[in-house]
Amino acid sequence: MKDNIEIHGLSFRPYISQAQIAEKIAEIGQQVSRDYKGKSPLFLAVLNGAFMFAADLIRACEIDCAISFIRLASYDGLNSSGEVKTVIGLQDEDVKGKDVVIIEDIVDTGQTMAHFVPQLEEMGPASVAIASFLVKREALESDVDIKYVGFEIPNRFVIGYGLDYDGLGRNIPDIYQLAD
Ligand code: IMP
Repeated sequence: MKDNIEIHGLSFRPYISQAQIAEKIAEIGQQVSRDYKGKSPLFLAVLNGAFMFAADLIRACEIDCAISFIRLASYDGLNSSGEVKTVIGLQDEDVKGKDVVIIEDIVDTGQTMAHFVPQLEEMGPASVAIASFLVKREALESDVDIKYVGFEIPNRFVIGYGLDYDGLGRNIPDIYQLAD
């Protein structure tokens, strides 16, 4: 990993390497494959941030599966807007009777998932589980059940591996944390 990087004038330090990410995703892929053996889950990746985790996770799963993409809340700078809206909609028939696994990049306050999961459950899936690559456990305000967690991290802003700071940083293969 490189030294600190700068984005929009803020400094970020190396935090989780590409190699650690790959190792963790292989583990989660095996777990999901075991749990959903004989089933054919529908992965629902939350855009934009989860696109990279989703692409890696489904390749680590050795079961039949489908994937769809949804877009929910906009995240404004460093603070969660607290507002959740479905930008790219989902049809009831897409999820009815399916074992749905939501793929998130990061759960911060949990607002996004706390709003979205009940909406999804109304569409009649057989089951709903959440896989989030990162979880800021101490920032969690809502009671959200996250079945698959990559890393629990402190409440400090991170970028890279799909995560952005005001639109930049998603392409960085490692995860960087806001420096002091
Ligand atoms: P929540 O609704 O507060 O759980 O926020 C979830 C969304 O906020 C994530 O899907 C991200 O898009 C964004 N987010 C939260 N924390 C960070 C961070 O540290 N870096 C980049 N995006 C973040």
